[in-house]
Amino acid sequence: MSATSPGVSISSAVPEHVAVIMDGNGRWAGRRALPRHAGHKAGVKAARSAVETCAESGVKCLTLFAFSSENWRRPREEVGALMALFVEVLKRETEELHRNNIRLRFIGDRPSLGKRLAQRIAAAEALTADNTGLDLNVAMAYGGRWDIVEAARRAAERVAAGELSPADISEETIRGHLALGDCPDPDLLIRTGGEHRISNFLLWNLAYAEVFFTPTLWPDFSNADIDAAFSFYRERQRRFGRTAEQLEARSC
Ligand code: IPE
Ligand code: IPE
Ligand code: MG
Repeated sequence: MSATSPGVSISSAVPEHVAVIMDGNGRWAGRRALPRHAGHKAGVKAARSAVETCAESGVKCLTLFAFSSENWRRPREEVGALMALFVEVLKRETEELHRNNIRLRFIGDRPSLGKRLAQRIAAAEALTADNTGLDLNVAMAYGGRWDIVEAARRAAERVAAGELSPADISEETIRGHLALGDCPDPDLLIRTGGEHRISNFLLWNLAYAEVFFTPTLWPDFSNADIDAAFSFYRERQRRFGRTAEQLEARSC
């Protein structure tokens, strides 16, 4: 699919790479007088359904923001409940994802997640490594700035080792060292929960994403919302810096 190549104007029918900021779990719970962790639990169901729908729709790559580097600032009980939920979900869902030919990858500051979760992550990645269906990336303890700093550090290490000259550092060098260096950039970013911000998600990779904001709280996110996001995407003209006239001339 060509929608991600700079220079191609018309959005393909289905975005190749979809990134999602799954926001609104706490408010969903609050409206039901439930504790915040009940909202996170309900959010897992919405994530499962979004994964299925994206896989069936022909999306090649789905990146879900599950826990940001800034979310460590939340109350200790909420962070603890989230980490326990991640362990439980991995335990419960990995086999099913594997049966559905989904390849799992986790991006973020892995050591900060603790040994138990890091072990589950490594096992899930190893089990699904050769799958050829949907690429499912889960961002945990992830920050876009952290990602860029890590990439810069790796490039600097190569310079220090004499493998790379500073003059040869290019966008491709940095991209290649990012957590999603081998994925095409997201074509579509969806943020639920009504906020219109990026919250330090894939800062580099989202440079040319189409952005769909919806007030729907993440646990309520349904196939109807995915349809709305995909039709919004289909209506965009992706210009990548060119003019509409240039693109129209090319498509004649
Ligand atoms: C997103 O929902 C999930 C995480 C950040 C882990 P929130 O927990 O931010 O929900 P709201 O924004 O408070 O409603
Ligand atoms: C962004 O949501 C992170 C995730 C969805 C995991 P937040 O709710 O943490 O975002 P801010 O802090 O309100 O911007
Ligand atoms: Mg939030």
